[in-house]
Amino acid sequence: MLSLSDSISSANFKSLMVEWLPKIETQLKEELPSNNADPIWQKAVTSAIFNGGKRTRPFLTILGWQTVAKNSSIQEEMVLRIAVAIELIHSSSLIFDDLPCMDNATIRRGNQALHLEFGEDKAILVALSLLLKGIEIVIKTLNSLEPGNQAQSLVIDLMHSLGERGLICGQWFDLSAKQSITSQEKNNALAPLRNLKTMPLIRFALLSGAVLGKATEEQKNVLAKFAELIGEAYQQIDDLLDFISDPDTLGKDVALDKKNDRLNYAYINLDKTILNIEEKLNQARNIILEENYSYNLEKTYLVAFTYYLNNRFQKALSYRSS
Ligand code: IPE
Ligand code: IPE
Ligand code: MG
Ligand code: MG
Ligand code: MG
Repeated sequence: MLSLSDSISSANFKSLMVEWLPKIETQLKEELPSNNADPIWQKAVTSAIFNGGKRTRPFLTILGWQTVAKNSSIQEEMVLRIAVAIELIHSSSLIFDDLPCMDNATIRRGNQALHLEFGEDKAILVALSLLLKGIEIVIKTLNSLEPGNQAQSLVIDLMHSLGERGLICGQWFDLSAKQSITSQEKNNALAPLRNLKTMPLIRFALLSGAVLGKATEEQKNVLAKFAELIGEAYQQIDDLLDFISDPDTLGKDVALDKKNDRLNYAYINLDKTILNIEEKLNQARNIILEENYSYNLEKTYLVAFTYYLNNRFQKALSYRSS
């Protein structure tokens, strides 16, 4: 007999992508920060957003919503607005991340890094404006909900996913952990903190959709566990790709973590990193497939997302053997 897991594949997630990608792109065009006085501004903002991002986080918001929202009356448009706000914020973090004082990257999403195309000064302003625009959209969207709607607390969750419990803190520890000069013990202590640069925003992306769909506490708990595992796997796959991909395929510089002496575990122990990624994706899938944790969730897309990430991971591994 075919189990649920056997009948789901990455194709199920790809069908969600095919359905939603045009809507995400259209919504992004509507939400760009504008500055009518200067066409170069528009060019820079467009270059930062419409340049080949995978849109993983907006898809996760939609996925979170579809997973719980069978009976919710929340409008699709609201979910889309939150989804693209997260993409604007994520894109802003990439511009900061690429600056010479951070990773000193030259390529992003297949193009020249924004600071090389428009200058560091302008790149910083664009990054700040994308961050602020994203936050503005979230606040406006949540303000339009009825009073007392649980989603109103999402703005605080978003701040945590970016600030002291999230991205900024994670970037800090990423910059602090020097593979070669820090003791093994200190690096081991910094490793989980480094995860904060990626995982909390991924968790927020999924949970914000679920909360908009009026998820129960039990549903939120299981989705949070799932998101933590896939968020950690996501960064480890990114680390692996820094080690074994090529710039044309990846659309960004490779071996940059090595050059910058970052605590990228793929460089320290490749086999262990590969096992770790496999384990995290399996655990995430099992949490969802485990009957006790079903909680009336629509499981298909969640499971399919783990297969989609697994495909990306397997593709990374294939570079190694080629
Ligand atoms: C890159 O994120 C930085 C990480 C947090 C791993 P993505 O791999 O999602 O980058 P884009 O948005 O597709 O360019
Ligand atoms: C940065 O991680 C993640 C954030 C932007 C917060 P990386 O530095 O590994 O991301 P990439 O590899 O440049 O996309
Ligand atoms: Mg970085
Ligand atoms: Mg980087
Ligand atoms: Mg990286």
